Amino acid sequence: MTASTVPTVPTMLRLTDRWGRTADDLRISLIDKCNLRCTYCMPAEGLPWLKKDELLTADEAVRLADIGVRVLGVKDIRFTGGEPLVRKDLADIIRGVRTLHPEVSISITTNGIGLDKRIDELVEAGLTRVNVSLDTVDREAFTALTRRDRLPQVMAGLKAAKDAGLEPVKVNAVMMRGVNDHGAVDLAQWCLDHGYQLRFIEQMPLDADRSWARENLVSGAEIRSALSERFVLREDPAPRGSAPAQLWEVCGRDGARLGTVGIIASVTESFCAACSRTRITADGKIRSCLFSNEETDLMGLLRGNASDEDVALEWSRAMWGKPRAYGSDEITLNDEGYVQPERTMSAIGG
Ligand code: GTP
Ligand code: 5AD
Ligand code: SF4
Repeated sequence: MTASTVPTVPTMLRLTDRWGRTADDLRISLIDKCNLRCTYCMPAEGLPWLKKDELLTADEAVRLADIGVRVLGVKDIRFTGGEPLVRKDLADIIRGVRTLHPEVSISITTNGIGLDKRIDELVEAGLTRVNVSLDTVDREAFTALTRRDRLPQVMAGLKAAKDAGLEPVKVNAVMMRGVNDHGAVDLAQWCLDHGYQLRFIEQMPLDADRSWARENLVSGAEIRSALSERFVLREDPAPRGSAPAQLWEVCGRDGARLGTVGIIASVTESFCAACSRTRITADGKIRSCLFSNEETDLMGLLRGNASDEDVALEWSRAMWGKPRAYGSDEITLNDEGYVQPERTMSAIGG
């Protein structure tokens, strides 16, 4: 090799795919269990849970996050579940990643139950942000949708996140026709009043009951029209990048700015072409797409003394095969013949 052909900067692996996308947003599910039973996610009786020794340990989760950031160019890490707060060692995991990577964003997506008791510990460990799932502020509708009467606990969790200084505190709301869609505007009002950034999410076919039906879909367009009955909406001019949510500025009829609301139109306005996500399931498998039917095991490598480079190579190979959209290269969610993946949202981690 001549001096001019010797690379001066070591080439970093990246999580690129055949469709020109590069993933730098890592989502690690830490557990499949949850203390709610949202109908769009889990059956009433729960699911056959992974055994403790099948779950990533805290050290394994930290190691994967470290490989993601140090070797593969990951910039954001989000811990999900099931419900990540069910993991008693969540703060240890966050602290482990934070110690290695002071600059990386570390967030969680949680149902908020018990967050008020844990928030100080999590923030002290290095948590940057939280997204809390809350689909309605109507207690009866909440109980019907989640099959648990826990609305006050979720509200307490949200307040604690705000009081701890996390910003923005986002609220995720999945709309279901006839269940909570009538409360969409009240939920928006409540979030604006409390300073939370609400995002409405179109329901995707990732439920265990397999009862998703296109005819029942509450679309982003419908939500915008419902909100327009009380508020004035203006599309946020800031570039959206690979964020799933389109943001809208919300003003009162008198023109006063009240805050922002996001709409995640994952079914009717696909954002797959800009997807920047790479996912790891609670049992240590890469899922290149939320809707994948294929997974690549990393747990075996982690527990088989593989080097970080081996793990990174396997990870980047798996991502190279990432499907174009909705788990497929050919068919989309909106085509006849679309087949729902085996794993439900709770087992993938959102
Ligand atoms: P922020 O960085 O805070 O904006 O987080 P996020 O919106 O990426 O994460 P969150 O866990 O709050 O996810 C919100 C919703 O976005 C999920 O419920 C999904 O409905 C949707 N979503 C997230 N990632 C994907 C994805 O890769 N594909 C699709 N189709 N939807 C996704
Ligand atoms: N469709 C859309 N979003 C869903 N979530 C859970 N199941 C579904 C679904 N079938 C959302 C939850 C949580 C996020 C991780 O995923 O509301 O906020
Ligand atoms: Fe639990 Fe989240 Fe699934 Fe609801 S959506 S059952 S909160 S994992």
